[in-house]
Amino acid sequence: MYVCLCHGLNDRQVRAAIDEGQAGSAAEVYRHYSCKPQCGKCVSTVHDMVRAAQSPA
Ligand code: FES
Repeated sequence: MYVCLCHGLNDRQVRAAIDEGQAGSAAEVYRHYSCKPQCGKCVSTVHDMVRAAQSPA
């Protein structure tokens, strides 16, 4: 599933960046893939994915 259409990032890529310890925040997810939010529609989804990964199971 695409999370960010502007940059073609899918949920697996976002999850991989988080799981590999490369991204502890939404901003770091974008930085990991050398991009910045353009339209901004995906930011809340990326933020929620980071938060979900950080909260205890
Ligand atoms: Fe991610 Fe537009 S969908 S910046």
